[in-house]
Amino acid sequence: MLGSGEEAIWNKMRANSSEKQAKSLQFPEGFLWGTATSAHQVEGRQTNNDWWATEQIGGYVFKDQKAGDACDWWRDYEGDFNRMQDLKTNAHRLSIEWSRVQPQPGYWSEPALQRYREMILQLRKRGIEPMVTLHHFTNPLWMSVLGGWENENSPEYFEAYVRKVVSELGDLANLWCTINEPMVLLAQGYLMGSWPPHNTSVYALYQAGLNLIKAHGRAYHAIHEINPEARVGIAKHMVVWRPYRNWMPSDQLAARMINRLSNRVLLDAVVKGEMKIPLRGKVKFDNLEGTLDWIGINYYQRFRVGLKLRNLIGKIFPRLPADIFYHGTSPDYQKGPGPWGEIYAEGLYDTLQSVRHYGLPVLITENGIPDRTDIHRPRFIITHLHQLWKAIQDGIPIEGYYYWSLVDNFEWSEGYNPDFRFGLYGVDFETQKRTLKTSGKLYAEICRNNGIAPELIEEYDPALLEQIFDRSL
Ligand code: GAL
Repeated sequence: MLGSGEEAIWNKMRANSSEKQAKSLQFPEGFLWGTATSAHQVEGRQTNNDWWATEQIGGYVFKDQKAGDACDWWRDYEGDFNRMQDLKTNAHRLSIEWSRVQPQPGYWSEPALQRYREMILQLRKRGIEPMVTLHHFTNPLWMSVLGGWENENSPEYFEAYVRKVVSELGDLANLWCTINEPMVLLAQGYLMGSWPPHNTSVYALYQAGLNLIKAHGRAYHAIHEINPEARVGIAKHMVVWRPYRNWMPSDQLAARMINRLSNRVLLDAVVKGEMKIPLRGKVKFDNLEGTLDWIGINYYQRFRVGLKLRNLIGKIFPRLPADIFYHGTSPDYQKGPGPWGEIYAEGLYDTLQSVRHYGLPVLITENGIPDRTDIHRPRFIITHLHQLWKAIQDGIPIEGYYYWSLVDNFEWSEGYNPDFRFGLYGVDFETQKRTLKTSGKLYAEICRNNGIAPELIEEYDPALLEQIFDRSL
């Protein structure tokens, strides 16, 4: 929660930024402008985690591609760290690969820890504030052999790893993110079965869910024990769910239910120490209440949903959500490629309003667009930052924004599918050559100015001038 002192400082920062509002969308002083990456997606040469195993099986990744060298960070990260500087960012969110640090139970790799130490130091040297994520989708192979998150000891395993990492690197980083998008991991791994562990069982889903939540709680306390100054959060994927047909009560019900399950339950658990879920009612956790110092929001898209009424009646035990719900997009809105949802900037504002009642500082830990051509990305960035700025004017304490991603990278099931490129820099994966995109130039200007001036919009997307500044050319 914000203390009264912090609130006063925040209000002052906000007042300063809104004075300039007429001239430009100015952000509070000290705002964190960053980019985000994750270990498996950029480091390359990962051969000891469950994603590597999935890539070997085949059938789960676009054209059966493998992450391979990815962006080659394990060999050379410095080039991309220099690029962060070129973009004038002052923050970066990266993740530590558990399977590198603890390749076997009970064995810690000092060279891997040393390597991460160097990486974080190199960020600091460049004036870039690190945010360290401890789990970004991948588990060490030994952990999946032991049953992954279904194993009742998994929260303990995670805590031991977190203690090791924070004891070694805790002096270098203040911002710690325990787990990236636990609900996405659960949905993809245990509902759809498209990600490891490819286990579509409701029982496994429930066990894994409980253990991930417990693991977060343990990690929170461990980090604070080692470094009381640390600020610990979670990166929560938030989707805007809207009824397929606004007027249809069953579609409204579907949107409410999915919103509750996917957006609320987990945050409620880690803030209040308890959650309410269907068929189980209230579930209470020990030592979990208040285990967030900030909320990380990963926001990408909006979906429309409805209930398959016939299936609800016909199937006594619907197993997959697809048996009960349908989801999709409206042709009236811009959408991303393939199964991607609607690109909907206002959804970021709505999402921020929806977490306001938790009374915690917020960081946008990810926001980005799959855009092969970079034609849509500049507008995406401007319109989403406009919504972010509006939420700040409304008094929501938003401290930073991390664009996903610095560089094109390995996009999980989409592999290196060219339609799923998120980078501000393009990457030629054959040669490792980088190319700064137009959106990268735009983002650099925004970071440099700590805001968006009308001139910038005039240069990059004049059609937005009226919408944002109430004036046209
Ligand atoms: C997030 C995820 C990232 C990245 C991004 C783009 O859900 O945390 O790893 O893949 O989506 O799809």
